[in-house]
Amino acid sequence: MNISVIGAGQMGNGIAHVFAQGGHTVTMIDIAQASLDKGLATIGRNLDRQVAKGTLTAAEKDSTLGRITTTVDLVAGVKAAELVVEAATENVDLKLRIFKDLDAHAPMGCILATNTSSISITRIAAVTKRPQEVIGMHFMNPVPVMKLVEVIRGYDTSDAVTRTVVELSTALGKVPVTVNDHAGFIANRILMPMINESIEALFQGVGGVAEIDAIMKLGLAHPMGPLQLADFIGLDTCLAILRVLHEGFGNPKYAPCPLLVQMVTAGKLGAKSGEGFYVYTTGSKDLVVAPAFRK
Ligand code: CAA
Repeated sequence: MNISVIGAGQMGNGIAHVFAQGGHTVTMIDIAQASLDKGLATIGRNLDRQVAKGTLTAAEKDSTLGRITTTVDLVAGVKAAELVVEAATENVDLKLRIFKDLDAHAPMGCILATNTSSISITRIAAVTKRPQEVIGMHFMNPVPVMKLVEVIRGYDTSDAVTRTVVELSTALGKVPVTVNDHAGFIANRILMPMINESIEALFQGVGGVAEIDAIMKLGLAHPMGPLQLADFIGLDTCLAILRVLHEGFGNPKYAPCPLLVQMVTAGKLGAKSGEGFYVYTTGSKDLVVAPAFRK
């Protein structure tokens, strides 16, 4: 299948990786060539990791990379697409703009999927003239590792489109789970209040960063503590999702913790910016609590 992925960031390059590894032809689209180069380099590194583990051969790595092309031209990049997966920043205006463009330039019959973590599929679909072909295809990070694809049906999404997306996800070795369209769907409706509550507990001085994460890792068998996970997802993304939940439900329980808002304002976005609740040094896997949270 011809698949176009919009966005070469953390999610976009992972989505391009798994589709190309699954034998599909992938066009990765971004607004900056530098982002595409960085995305491709990340895919190369993650494929190397699979080769080193023996789960992929060097020849399979090369053929996977050979199926990915990149472009900064959205119009050219989607003109032969049978499926587009949009994985741009979690910003509603941006996504609405992209879907208007996709409606204008992607062929009829092309499935228009969004990897949004929380924004209403129905709202995104409403800016197109083909809402029956719009669907949520929410991959989890790291995409090559996590099994889940949360498939979200908008108000008008057709059964045929849902079936195709479920079958495609299964063929990638993923486990699709279909849900209906409501703010945050299921994954983030449950995850983000937990992350927000952890930040609130830190803000109130109930426990330190290492203590909160240790309790959740060791006591509840989470692979990462919630503060480390927030850094991994990106604090700006966590904040954007909480705002969607807050606005979508009109319930103060989803109000983002002021500490999260302040950290994002200060440019502390987690692993991608080098500092969040922890500091991140290239090449090091050690978890070091950020200076602001040291006792
Ligand atoms: N690409 C490919 N493979 C990767 C990878 C990547 N980016 N990152 C890790 N891996 C592989 C490793 O090679 C390793 O494979 P094997 O077990 O076969 O050897 C395996 O994943 C585990 O990796 P590590 O041993 O390096 O590290 P780890 O044991 O600490 O696991 C982790 C890393 C898989 C990320 C684990 O910490 C984890 O599961 N964390 C939680 C992830 C999570 O909750 N993700 C969802 C976030 S929410 C989201 O994405 C949605 C949203 O809308 C916000």
